[in-house]
Amino acid sequence: MTETFEKIEDIEIRLLLEALYHRYHYDFRNYAMSSIRRRLRQAREQLGFSTISAMQEGVLHDTDMLPQMLRYLTIQVSEMFRDPSYFLAIREKVVPHLRTYPSLKIWIAGCSAGEELYSFVILFREEGLEERTLFYATDINPDALAHAETGIYDIERIRLFTENHRQAGGKTSLSDYYTSGYNRCVLDKSLRRNVVFSDHSLVTDQVFGEMQFVSCRNVMIYFDRPLQNRAVGLFRDSLPHNAFLGLGAKETLRFSTHVDSFREFVREEKIYQRNGE
Ligand SMILES: C[S@@+](CC[C@H](N)C(=O)[O-])C[C@H]1O[C@@H](n2cnc3c(N)ncnc32)[C@H](O)[C@@H]1O
Repeated sequence: MTETFEKIEDIEIRLLLEALYHRYHYDFRNYAMSSIRRRLRQAREQLGFSTISAMQEGVLHDTDMLPQMLRYLTIQVSEMFRDPSYFLAIREKVVPHLRTYPSLKIWIAGCSAGEELYSFVILFREEGLEERTLFYATDINPDALAHAETGIYDIERIRLFTENHRQAGGKTSLSDYYTSGYNRCVLDKSLRRNVVFSDHSLVTDQVFGEMQFVSCRNVMIYFDRPLQNRAVGLFRDSLPHNAFLGLGAKETLRFSTHVDSFREFVREEKIYQRNGE
């Protein structure tokens, strides 16, 4: 690919992201360019457009293309009890603090198809905290949120989820929470009793409540630095003194302008605690 071609392609990408923002209010303009470029090249090829500009025209005039674009621009990789040591640390080190609260609000930001959310609900049920907790599960991708609300997953994924749950210190059997058939397993709807699913963007929306724990994992890796700062600012404003923030294994607050608002609580697991100020 020549340098000129790449420069033109970057202009086309910027114009497409502007189009998505002005037409649909989805704002990917400050996502990390390398990942956006890769995903849009894939979309162009697979959707059969000759150029990104042609795809931009499609997006502007055909609303049916929006869900397709969101499928390419948001990465939906997830697992239940992903990085089991993160959930083990929550169980062993964070839960004893949470037990001291009469009621709890937990925000799973960028919840994808619900795998992380249900991991929290099961862990909280095992630890006797579910009844006093309200869980907020938010994402910008409506298909992912709709999937999360069904709580249905392919049966082939269950073996991994089960092993993760065991490594996360699971006190029950994961099979207590689902029924299986037709190559899929359906999570018990009682797990959704205390869950609010909502469309919320870390880029364009505001804080919506005071939380005792925000878990935002593998979302900010797709943002550029200023956008990461915006998201961390939302978490800072949602978390009162001593409340917790959990990030993904490859994420850190080290470069954030808000770093002084937090202290490391379980450093290896990227779990932070809000400082008093
Ligand atoms: C890789 S998944 C992470 C899922 C889960 N948190 C985990 O760690 O397994 C990233 C999720 O972030 C969501 N996302 C992307 N941009 C977002 C934004 N601006 N606000 C909220 N969620 C966003 C995507 O739709 C996707 O569901």
